[in-house]
Amino acid sequence: MAQTASSKQVGTATLTLGDKTASLPVLGGTLGTDCVDVRKLQNELGVFTFDPSYGATASCESSITYIDGDEGVLLHRGYPIDQLAENSTFLEVAYLLLNGELPNKAELEKFNSGVMRHTMLHEQIRSFWSGFRRDAHPMAMLCSVVGAMSAFYPDSINVHDERQREISAFRMIAKIPTITAWAHKYNVGQPFVYPKNEYSYAENFLYMFHAVPAEDYKPNPILTAAMDRILILHADHEQNASTSTVRLAGSTGANPFACIAAGIASLWGPAHGGANEAVLKMLAEIGHKDNIPEFIKQVKDKNSGVKLMGFGHRVYKNFDPRAKIMQKTCHEVLGELGIKDEPMLDLAIELEKIALEDDYFVSRKLYPNVDFYSGIILKAMGFPTQMFTPIFALARTVGWISQWKEMMEDPSNRISRPRQIYTGAPTRDYVPLEKRG
Ligand code: CMC
Repeated sequence: MAQTASSKQVGTATLTLGDKTASLPVLGGTLGTDCVDVRKLQNELGVFTFDPSYGATASCESSITYIDGDEGVLLHRGYPIDQLAENSTFLEVAYLLLNGELPNKAELEKFNSGVMRHTMLHEQIRSFWSGFRRDAHPMAMLCSVVGAMSAFYPDSINVHDERQREISAFRMIAKIPTITAWAHKYNVGQPFVYPKNEYSYAENFLYMFHAVPAEDYKPNPILTAAMDRILILHADHEQNASTSTVRLAGSTGANPFACIAAGIASLWGPAHGGANEAVLKMLAEIGHKDNIPEFIKQVKDKNSGVKLMGFGHRVYKNFDPRAKIMQKTCHEVLGELGIKDEPMLDLAIELEKIALEDDYFVSRKLYPNVDFYSGIILKAMGFPTQMFTPIFALARTVGWISQWKEMMEDPSNRISRPRQIYTGAPTRDYVPLEKRG
């Protein structure tokens, strides 16, 4: 395991409230913004901090992923995302996220086979699908089936056993492609395709997703490489909403399958992982380039509730480095598939161009994020729109389990429990029913 230093005190902040003064340590990590440590604030000044959507709060120390939103930088364990996307494989990135260092050849082989031998689901899990409606959203199936894994792998529930934590990580990473592919097979009424461990991780997913028993399946190396890259680009993103959900659930000692199910639920929303599905719906609604100005007008009207999906990010205020790689991959995939004229792509490019020249977006530092182009690639690769967010969940499972593992190994971990500003009724006496007006 990589040895990483904890944060260090780099200064002191002084906060005065009435006649009391608190000296608060300022902590610095390896890179990034320093943080005022407010843990003693209540004892010293009798107040809490208020930051409802955590825009100004660091919730943990982590050595996994670093984002510099102003510079458009994303690092996993120090390695830039573009280098990983160009040169690595998804399972190698998974090893890196989990263990802190790139593996040597023997370590990678052991890890690959360690993960791939867990790809099958307990056969009893199969019967879960028959309980769902055929048109059930695959994210609903993912949440339920992943949560249900707690009932099938009771040994993994011992979160204090290091070996069991490792096996849970293997199980989650290995089984989530099978669960995702089977959710689709159930939707379309095709037979479930069992995993083939001789395939690479991305190849195996494409196989389980696209193959049917009646025909031979020949993996396309370019599409497999694109799939692998899409998975790498979604693998982790530090303390985003779903990862924070996983950590919050995990802080109580809940088992990893329950925590990841919570993460999947959190990812589903259109402000987060659901945006890739929402982008395609938005492009379909716009329909034609001529309708872009009217759409942009709606986006700028705060009362319309319309957002430019796939644009904006809480942290990136310059560009999302994943979006750039995604755009390049999009052209490669369309080229490989011989798609010369993809109206959705033309529309997306035009929409991006118009938005990037418009003061509304420029002044608010709104740029395309990872979801803007991913849907177009996934659509070209034959994935139905409602599978986009499950594929994001498949990839992010590696990040979630790495962050959960890091938290479980941190001796200072204790239950996460925010406070509130109470704005309800003050204390009052119960009024019997017959005396109420
Ligand atoms: N379209 C139009 N206006 C926007 C958008 C957008 N996509 N995003 C932000 N704004 C406006 C927002 O209304 C606000 O305007 P004002 O200052 O006049 O009130 C300003 O920009 C600042 O935005 P914010 O709402 O404070 O930003 P946030 O950090 O709370 O939200 C976000 C970030 C990603 C939820 C938001 O940008 C958004 O809803 N984007 C569309 C959904 C999307 O693409 N999500 C995927 C994010 S990346 C992958 C992932 O995390 O899963």
